[in-house]
Amino acid sequence: MERLSDAKEVGSQFLKNANVGICVVADSEKADTWIEDSSIALTYLNLMATAENIGSCWVQMHLRRDSEGNDAEKNVREILNLDENYRIVGIMALGVPAIKRKGKTIEDLDFDKVKKID
Ligand SMILES: Cc1cc2nc3c(=O)[nH]c(=O)nc-3n(C[C@H](O)[C@H](O)[C@H](O)COP(=O)(O)O)c2cc1C
Repeated sequence: MERLSDAKEVGSQFLKNANVGICVVADSEKADTWIEDSSIALTYLNLMATAENIGSCWVQMHLRRDSEGNDAEKNVREILNLDENYRIVGIMALGVPAIKRKGKTIEDLDFDKVKKID
């Protein structure tokens, strides 16, 4: 987990203190939709963790780099001993939330970002 937390430069350090990390691995030789498939899997992990009162955070690896400029996904493949056809969009970190955040209300949402097409 410590090595995985250093696989990219920013936004991954909490992985080493997480109770569990689930690395979503997709075989790009079996599905050309590996980005979409992995993103759906990661999102469901978020939803399922929340339903079980478990804290979760997506740790993006695809298209990210470590502090020396190396490809983060390649680093993860090396740590987990995976062949090149296995692609890693991200890792889901799971743990006990340190703080409980208040949910957002409908009024908090920025509807300027939503375009209505008539
Ligand atoms: C595609 C995607 C990639 C993310 N990658 C990271 C990441 O690498 N590190 C991280 O700390 N959080 C990551 N997050 C979590 C976001 O930073 C943020 O905490 C989460 O989306 C909640 O955002 P909100 O506070 O605007 O609701 C990612 C989220 C998504 C959807």
